[in-house]
Amino acid sequence: MKEENLSSKMEVFVCNHKRDGDECCFDKGSKELTDNLKKWAKEDMNREIKVFRSGCLGKCSEGIALTCFPQNKYILETKVNDLEEIKKGLKEALQKLKT
Ligand code: FES
Repeated sequence: MKEENLSSKMEVFVCNHKRDGDECCFDKGSKELTDNLKKWAKEDMNREIKVFRSGCLGKCSEGIALTCFPQNKYILETKVNDLEEIKKGLKEALQKLKT
């Protein structure tokens, strides 16, 4: 076993689960939202925020679902066009961690 410190200050998981015939985040556009958030985190946030695709987060009817750590929060009922609002919220959360 080996332990290592994370290089990022925050980690965001975006559900990309696809469920045939049932409500799921993938069908609501989570792939596009994830791609855009990953690009932003890499290019504009100096990798202080890391964004990952995840499996089902157990909030399918409230998707697109995201989780955010170390805040231990769900971000729910997001849509692809909520990108700017999500980025703003994550940036504010990061600033709070630094103060
Ligand atoms: S499919 Fe996204 S939370 Fe379950």
